[in-house]
Amino acid sequence: MKRLAGKSALITGAARGIGKAFAEAYVSEGAQVAIADINLEAAEAAASEIGAGAYAVALDVTRQDSIDAAVATVQKQAGGLDILINNAALFDLAPIVDITRESYDRLFSINVAGSLFMLQAAARVMIAQGRGGKIINMASQAGRRGEALVGVYCATKAAIISLTQSAGLDLIKHGINVNAIAPGVVEGAHWAGVDALFAKAEGLAPGEKQAQVAAAVPFGRMGRASDLTGMAIFLASAEADYIVAQTYNVDGGNWMS
Ligand SMILES: NC(=O)c1ccc[n+]([C@@H]2O[C@H](COP(=O)([O-])OP(=O)(O)OC[C@H]3O[C@@H](n4cnc5c(N)ncnc54)[C@H](O)[C@@H]3O)[C@@H](O)[C@H]2O)c1
Repeated sequence: MKRLAGKSALITGAARGIGKAFAEAYVSEGAQVAIADINLEAAEAAASEIGAGAYAVALDVTRQDSIDAAVATVQKQAGGLDILINNAALFDLAPIVDITRESYDRLFSINVAGSLFMLQAAARVMIAQGRGGKIINMASQAGRRGEALVGVYCATKAAIISLTQSAGLDLIKHGINVNAIAPGVVEGAHWAGVDALFAKAEGLAPGEKQAQVAAAVPFGRMGRASDLTGMAIFLASAEADYIVAQTYNVDGGNWMS
């Protein structure tokens, strides 16, 4: 029996990277998955690559009208909503004295407000349906510690861990489990962008920062999106019904070290 058979899932920022891997894994477990992304063209390409079970939905998590429209589309297309993964996020870096209001507003608007109001919209639907649900927020090791150049992103991910705790406690009475995953460093297009920012900030050669962080992971390599799919399936399944308001590290031992 597939673990997510008959479930309707919405994954934000699923056109590429970790979200896309989650979409693929959920479809293989029997779910119908909305690949919801600001980049609709990439979302459509991802959906057709994954095949039956996946469909693209336009979504900008910074706009309430876009959130409401995406959730309504999913209800219409899949007959309801059982699982939300709040995965869309942006990264930036700067020394504390150089952080701009623009960078702060952009990251908090996508990473935190986007996750909160997506969670709210999904929870309203799940409560009205009366059959519970699962909400998974993407946190990060960055939310568990400080990083000299990464103050704003770290703060957004600490906020995600906090939001997971409060929403988890508030929504469990409706049978809605809210939990989070905290990855360490995961290879892909996102980290290529992070590497380029560090190269500029620290005067490193392209690829040098990524090689440094990979060498420091106790497991012996950077994470891959496929390393995270097991936790994402588990937290969305009935096996996780008694798990409330938790954030799980899936990071090759990185945070512990
Ligand atoms: N890659 C890592 O090393 C790493 C580590 C820890 C945590 N994470 C977290 O995991 C999640 C996924 O990371 P990733 O590496 O796959 O990221 P990514 O940059 O590859 O993908 C992010 C996706 O979000 C979409 N997006 C951006 N703005 C949006 C908006 N306003 N509305 C809707 N979609 C929007 C992008 O188009 C993109 O498809 C993020 O929450 C990230 O913070 C990643």
